[in-house]
Amino acid sequence: MGRQPPIYNVEEREGLRVASKFNAQLMDHVRPHVTAGVKTRELDDLVREYTLEHGHTPACLGYNGYPACSCISINEVVCHGIPDDRELDDGDIVNVDLTTIVNGWYGDQSETFLIGQVSDEARRLVQVTFESLWVAIRRIEPYGKVRDIGAAIYKYARERDFEIVREYQGHGIGRSFHQEPGIPHFWFRGTKAGGQVIRPGMCFTIEPMLNIGTWKTNLDKFDNWTVRTLDGKLSAQFEHTILMGDDGPEILTLTQNGPQEGHSF
Ligand code: MF3
Ligand code: CO
Ligand code: CO
Repeated sequence: MGRQPPIYNVEEREGLRVASKFNAQLMDHVRPHVTAGVKTRELDDLVREYTLEHGHTPACLGYNGYPACSCISINEVVCHGIPDDRELDDGDIVNVDLTTIVNGWYGDQSETFLIGQVSDEARRLVQVTFESLWVAIRRIEPYGKVRDIGAAIYKYARERDFEIVREYQGHGIGRSFHQEPGIPHFWFRGTKAGGQVIRPGMCFTIEPMLNIGTWKTNLDKFDNWTVRTLDGKLSAQFEHTILMGDDGPEILTLTQNGPQEGHSF
């Protein structure tokens, strides 16, 4: 990550908007296919084909050697699940995380989907994770601090008895995938990180991962990508790319088709 978060000018902000908008349209394209019986590899194929057809670049493919165009994380998988021959099954919760490069600019977002009838506990986890992202978005303001994000998410989730993943975080985004500032999704008294000021023109993701059990995670020893909860209990995530404008946050990866603020799962 670079040292200082870039402050984007008017023209650069337009580049960010265009990339995130395409990424959101890609999610719109994939969303109806996230149903029982589909193989996660088939969803990844849709991502690759739609992106290439539009002349853009899937950001994940080849990123630090990552082997696919999307991350698809089922149930106890926290993030970075690699698409494969696994079929989505009734009762699964599945996160689809998409990132595209458009004219050199990155857009990044994810959603968790409920497949068929899921347990009440799973539905509640997904609901609270979604709400925690929106609580953070509504909390931030120009010249606020990065820790406002983590503090809002942490309080909201802990009051509802969920834990918050600490080992993976949101990130600045722009002409590279992951840059300053890092965006932790937790903050409580005594936490050191989070002092950076969120200035107008900064762009970053918020992508809370909430767990039913422990916040601790485990990296797959064989593929070196798949991150699971240490206790094997469920995890959910939502992500948007956010541009801090002069008057407040702009959510760059939102379209009319995805779940809106206040949505009930
Ligand atoms: N999209 C993820 C994020 O939100 C990063 C995936 S990196 C990959 O930051 F290499 F696993 F694709
Ligand atoms: Co992402
Ligand atoms: Co991200």
